[in-house]
Amino acid sequence: MSPTVGFFGTTGTVGSALLPELVKANKDGKIKLVILHRESTDLSKLPKELETRVLDLSEAGLEKNKAALKDFDVVVSSVGAPGIDSQNYIVEALVGSANLKTFIPSDFGTNWTEKELEAPGLADIKQKLAVVSKAKSLGVPITQIRVGLFDQFFFAYKAVGVDVQGNTIQKFRNNIQAPFRITTLAYLAYAVAKFVGDESTLTKLANETVVLYDYTPTGQEIVDTLTKIHGKPTEISEYPENQYQEDLQGPYAIGAALKAQWGNNSWGATATEVEGWQTKSYEELFRQWL
Ligand SMILES: NC(=O)c1ccc[n+]([C@@H]2O[C@H](COP(=O)([O-])OP(=O)(O)OC[C@H]3O[C@@H](n4cnc5c(N)ncnc54)[C@H](OP(=O)(O)O)[C@@H]3O)[C@@H](O)[C@H]2O)c1
Repeated sequence: MSPTVGFFGTTGTVGSALLPELVKANKDGKIKLVILHRESTDLSKLPKELETRVLDLSEAGLEKNKAALKDFDVVVSSVGAPGIDSQNYIVEALVGSANLKTFIPSDFGTNWTEKELEAPGLADIKQKLAVVSKAKSLGVPITQIRVGLFDQFFFAYKAVGVDVQGNTIQKFRNNIQAPFRITTLAYLAYAVAKFVGDESTLTKLANETVVLYDYTPTGQEIVDTLTKIHGKPTEISEYPENQYQEDLQGPYAIGAALKAQWGNNSWGATATEVEGWQTKSYEELFRQWL
């Protein structure tokens, strides 16, 4: 039988990327998809044929959530920062769930070390680890999905100092020689749909960490690609160490910490293989964002 999949967080950046692939898998009979949502969630963009169930992510919600979550092979959550903590209520309601192979909480970040997480601007990320600890302590199987920087954040938001339109790049430590990990949201959606559509894969993923990224250009490969696209040399500026230290304290902390992972080539565990995904050349990829 095809796995029954509960999906929470459908309206966010990651959620909207995952949704079409999961809806397609549902249509193709590869999964039975059930949308989980808050009372206040806007469901107007969902295909009408999908089953929906409400969660109450508060102290009062346990019995309601247990009933809503009782029959899933896998629950996937892609909540944003304000909702990370509230996933503890999902974990509590999944205790003893008979069919559950694994819970995939909203992580979708890189492999941060404890030292990196000491930066004040990265404090919120610790909440993700607390959800994992809670699941482990309650015996709920859990799978963390780690990624690189999403394509949207790399290209459109220029989060690590590469400006494809402006033909510029920031040099930091050894980043001209080192690879940067980009995860396209399309690849993430492809991989998640593949995982949840196969019961034996789900069983194998319990209490594992998966790492997904589909492009790893070095700084030099970025420079070469931009130079070719623009027909003139790419401007290379320096990201100063004191700016890095300052950025780590506040809202730019994730970008700063990723620049350091890149410049130090300290990305941690490498990619999990997912069959069948076709990548483009760097030139084709970059041209999509011009
Ligand atoms: N690697 C990267 O480049 C990268 C970039 C961005 C994000 N991320 C990670 O990806 C994950 C998803 O982020 P996102 O940007 O997709 O988030 P987002 O767009 O902010 O997601 C919003 C979603 O979270 C739900 N939500 C918001 N507040 C909530 C609360 N208090 N309780 C429960 N649910 C709540 C919303 O539900 P309603 O519809 O009910 O409001 C909505 O579905 C996060 O873990 C984030 O750290 C990674």
